[in-house]
Amino acid sequence: MPIVRYVSHEGLVTELEVTPGNNLMNAAVFEGIDGIEGMCGGCLACATCHVYVDPAFLDRLPPVSADEQSMLSQVASERRPNSRLCCQISMRADLEGLTVTLPERQG
Ligand code: FES
Repeated sequence: MPIVRYVSHEGLVTELEVTPGNNLMNAAVFEGIDGIEGMCGGCLACATCHVYVDPAFLDRLPPVSADEQSMLSQVASERRPNSRLCCQISMRADLEGLTVTLPERQG
């Protein structure tokens, strides 16, 4: 299974195998990764799954939808050009090694 690296705000790296089709928020919450809350369960209503995506992977991800764009304006930490809501990132085999850094806070 492809690996995703979650890097905490403090720099702690956790590698998870994420099943293709599962999204990065679900995988992180299931494994108890601190720093991703996913309060709405992935229905684009909370913005507590904010991550900063490694820029090398940005153009391999699906484009930001209008609804995600709207929720990104409500993130608790600084929004950056590589900000995404990770409930909207479904794992694929070709995303092996994807690295996401967690913001200082989610809410
Ligand atoms: S989990 Fe709520 S917007 Fe991603």
